[in-house]
Amino acid sequence: MELLRLIKSKQCVREYKKKRIPHNILSKIIEAGIWGPAVHHYQPWKFFAITNKKTIVEIAQLLLRADSSTKTVSNLLEYSASNIIRSAAAIIIVYNSGDMHAMRHRLKQLYLKFERILDIVELSAIAAAIQNMMLVAESFGVGSCWLDTPLLQAQKINKLLRHKGKMVAVITLGYASQRNTRSLRKPIKDSVNYIK
Ligand SMILES: Cc1cc2nc3c(=O)[nH]c(=O)nc-3n(C[C@H](O)[C@H](O)[C@H](O)COP(=O)(O)O)c2cc1C
Repeated sequence: MELLRLIKSKQCVREYKKKRIPHNILSKIIEAGIWGPAVHHYQPWKFFAITNKKTIVEIAQLLLRADSSTKTVSNLLEYSASNIIRSAAAIIIVYNSGDMHAMRHRLKQLYLKFERILDIVELSAIAAAIQNMMLVAESFGVGSCWLDTPLLQAQKINKLLRHKGKMVAVITLGYASQRNTRSLRKPIKDSVNYIK
């Protein structure tokens, strides 16, 4: 499929069929992530690709608060994210690998100059990796959804995974059982200033 058409038609899938994603496809999705733009050859991402249904359900469960019957906005968002995760065939938990910060001694000069903008640099590269993964998933007919709500329970999720990293996103993956329509976009002319 032509790339722009795929980008425009790719919807966020919030309900998935009970169908596994073949490992070779999952592996290609991850590969698309690691071929996102590196920063001075650093790859500031680390992925946990989880297909174990029990672990997926445990993570979904962590998003449900004891007071989840109270309809606050954050409760509703967490409830919704919990359901999306629960139905997914796989989830990719995306972490900042911390590689760039870890290199601060070896890279003292570069680091000093970039420290101020390092968080943005890392996050930008990680976001590009995420979008690569979701687009390649879509090209294989695998739907996805980008979630940040689970970050509210990052500590608990990290404890479950025995990992100490800085969580950036949770990407759910699977074959869509329900499709949504995309929200509208502003016209191009309202989103860009051309300087010709
Ligand atoms: C950084 C980021 C975080 C998001 N977090 C959530 C989330 O926690 N829960 C959710 O339902 N949608 C979340 N979304 C929205 C969906 O992933 C998806 O982008 C959106 O529903 C698609 O709408 P569109 O048709 O306007 O592109 C998030 C999107 C982005 C970019």
